[in-house]
Amino acid sequence: MELTLSVIKADIGGYIGHSRSHPKILELAKKLLNKHKGKELIDFCVTACGDDLELIMTHKLGNNSEKIHGIAWDVFKKCTSLAKELKLYGAGQDLLKDAFSGNLKGMGPGVAEISFEERKSEPVIVFMADKTEPGAWNLPLFRIFADPFNTAGLVIDPKMHQGFRFEVHDVVEHKKIYFDMPEEMYDILALIAEPAIYVIKHVFRKKDNMPAAVTSTQRLSLMAGRYVGKDDPVCIVRCQSGLPAVGEVLEPFAFPHLVAGWMRGSHNGPLMPVSVEQATPSRFDGPPRVMALGFQLSNGKLLGPVDMFADISFEYARKRANEIADYMRRHGPFMPHRLAADEMEYTTLPDVLRKFARRFEKLD
Ligand code: F6R
Ligand code: MG
Ligand code: MG
Repeated sequence: MELTLSVIKADIGGYIGHSRSHPKILELAKKLLNKHKGKELIDFCVTACGDDLELIMTHKLGNNSEKIHGIAWDVFKKCTSLAKELKLYGAGQDLLKDAFSGNLKGMGPGVAEISFEERKSEPVIVFMADKTEPGAWNLPLFRIFADPFNTAGLVIDPKMHQGFRFEVHDVVEHKKIYFDMPEEMYDILALIAEPAIYVIKHVFRKKDNMPAAVTSTQRLSLMAGRYVGKDDPVCIVRCQSGLPAVGEVLEPFAFPHLVAGWMRGSHNGPLMPVSVEQATPSRFDGPPRVMALGFQLSNGKLLGPVDMFADISFEYARKRANEIADYMRRHGPFMPHRLAADEMEYTTLPDVLRKFARRFEKLD
C-alpha cells in the first residue's frame, strides 16, 4: 500500500509580531499529533518556519484524506485557542472558515501531499518558506528538474535522462497544464516566469510517471478576497536513485533569487536559505527565507530531521542574500522593491487617486 507524506501548515499566530512561533504552540501541536501516532499517523514531525506552524506527517490514507486533514485542522484550531490565550499576534489568521467540512481546500492552511511506494531507500527534502508565495518554488524546481547546469544527472544518469513532466497551475483562473521537459522548456518558461499566476504544482519522472515533487499552491488573498497574510508555501522533493541527488535538489538555493512577499506581502526580496534556528524573519519583517529538512523514510517512519541549510556551504548565499536585501531596501517605496499595484496585498493607491481625482489636469 502506498505511503503518503503530508505537509500541512498554517500561520495561527506570531511571536513577536510575524517573526516566529511560540514554543508553547509547538509543544501543544506535538502533544496533539502524538495522540494519533500508531493510529492514523505512522509518524510526524512538528516544526516552524517564521510564524508558520508546520505539520509533517506520514500515513497510509492517501492524498486529501478527510481523517488527516481533520487532524491538522483540529491541531490548528486548538493551537489558535492557545495563541489567543497568549495574545500572540494575528492568532488564527490563516483559518478562513469556522467549521471543517471534509478537507482543507479553500480553508486557509497550505497543503502539499505526495503518495508513493517507498523505495529501498527514500530520502526526501521538505522545504518550508516564510514571507513569500507559492510561485517562489518555480525557479528552484525548474532548475532541479530541467536545468542541466544545475542537475548533472539530467545529462549523465540514464535513469533521468528522458526528463520530467511538470504540472503547472494557473492559480487565478483555476486551470492546469502539463509540460514535458526538456522539449517544451521555452514554453514552460514563458508561463512560470510569472509566479504570481503560474505555479508549479507537481513534477513527475517522465519515463514512469513517478511523483518526484509537490508544492502547496494555496493563495490566501485569492481565497479570502482580501489580505490575510502571505501564503508562505511548502514543497516536498524526493531524491536520489534516478531522481535528482540531495545536493542537486539543494543547489538552486545557493542563489537567493528575488521573490514576492516581503513586508506587508507587498515587496520583493531575496529568498535566503536558513537553518531552523535562523528561520525568524526580523529585518523589515524578512527578508523572505526558506528552510530545508531532510528525512530518510523508513517504513513510513521519519528518520530525521536533518537541517540541510545549516551547512557552512550556504553561508555565502546568506551573505549574498543580506547584501541583496540591503540593496533592495535602499529603494524604499519604489518599485521594483515594492510590487506592482495589482500584486500588492495592501494598497492605498485607489484612495489616493480618488482623493486627488479633481486635481488632475488634462495635458495639452
Ligand atoms: C505578515 C507580513 C508582515 C505584515 C506586517 C503588517 O505575513 O508579511 O510584514 O504584513 O507586519 O502587519 P499588520 O497589518 O498585522 O500590522
Ligand atoms: Mg503572521
Ligand atoms: Mg508566515
